[in-house]
Amino acid sequence: MAAAAGGAAGERRIMCVGLVCLDIISVVEAFPAEDSDTRCLSQRWQRGGNASNSCTVLALLGAPCAFMGSLAPPGPPLSKCGAEWGGTPAPAGHRADPPRHSTGPSVFLPPASTLGAPPARRSRLPARPRRSGGGPQPALCPPLSFIAADFQRRGVDTAHVAWQPRGAVPCACCLVSAASGSRTIVLHDTNLPDVTARDFERVDLSRYRWIHFEARNAAEQGAMLERVERHNRAAPPERRVRTSVELEKPREELLPLMGRGQVVFISKDLARHFGYQSAPEALRGLRGHIQPGATLICAWAEEGADALGPDGQLVHSDAFPPETLVDTLGAGDTFNAAVIFALAEGRSLQDALTFGCRIAGRKCGIQGFDGIV
Ligand code: ADP
Ligand code: FRU
Repeated sequence: MAAAAGGAAGERRIMCVGLVCLDIISVVEAFPAEDSDTRCLSQRWQRGGNASNSCTVLALLGAPCAFMGSLAPPGPPLSKCGAEWGGTPAPAGHRADPPRHSTGPSVFLPPASTLGAPPARRSRLPARPRRSGGGPQPALCPPLSFIAADFQRRGVDTAHVAWQPRGAVPCACCLVSAASGSRTIVLHDTNLPDVTARDFERVDLSRYRWIHFEARNAAEQGAMLERVERHNRAAPPERRVRTSVELEKPREELLPLMGRGQVVFISKDLARHFGYQSAPEALRGLRGHIQPGATLICAWAEEGADALGPDGQLVHSDAFPPETLVDTLGAGDTFNAAVIFALAEGRSLQDALTFGCRIAGRKCGIQGFDGIV
């Protein structure tokens, strides 16, 4: 695996655990009416998913980072690729290129080193396609190779990707409105099993300084956090691993995770779900759910973000709106990553919050992530 961005060999990394998916993004002039038929201004593929986006941002900020999440096994032959995605199989011999607007590289078979976790790690995994005598290589399903190549180009360590024996790579159709910068996401994320506590046991915790969890499978992630807590109890202060948890989706079963991370990010969607109308209101109302000494953070789009530190003090940062709102897809993931980056560097909560809003504001002013630093 390529060395992670910006890191000296041996430097402890920041790991993000959660979703990676393919985002198929259409930039539209304005949000279309239901049952209409319009052209978009541009279209691109982007590696997405909260944890995966946060890794992109950490890498751009220069932090050595690692992604842990699930991917489907090396795909079927291209002729079956459409079937795997629930669509019509591509005709035999069809080379299913990424769309022409794709900004990513056209790589179909990631080098063996691109994604960690060789199939041998799980005996029930199908074998990775092999090179046969220098002949043509079998092509992988393009979404998987696109994701693999994109992790690699960002220098994100993927050694702990959990290869699942079944399921499809999650994929989202995203509409970004040029008129408002809003993003509307429809995600297909139904049948790929999540990373388990057992997968997480293989992580050598001494190599990480911070592990961030995007809340998805609470019971398993609770066990992963317990493992980190046990490690921390036995480790000297400078070898401890800091933890954070993001609760974005208002799903009841995820709530126990609020009581687990040292830093807890809650989304405005979750806050609204509980009836709160602002970030400070949500922090005051939900503070009882976090563990003593933890920090609770809530971002609120153009209103910036608020946080409640371990000392019970409320801190606030205004947003840094760009001249034009261009693309808010992944603004929250950018904010989380930038806050984690700053806190991991030892900066104060106020500084970290301001930095998070500044970087997230820049992200809202550009398509994608290139240009946030
Ligand atoms: P999400 O992408 O999860 O919906 P938010 O909308 O809460 O995340 O935004 C996260 C951060 O991104 C905010 O705290 C803010 O700093 C920045 N941000 C998002 N939308 C805007 C906006 N319209 N104007 C300025 N900053 C924004
Ligand atoms: C942005 C994002 C997208 C993805 C969706 C998943 O925050 O991670 O990249 O399609 O959310 O919910």
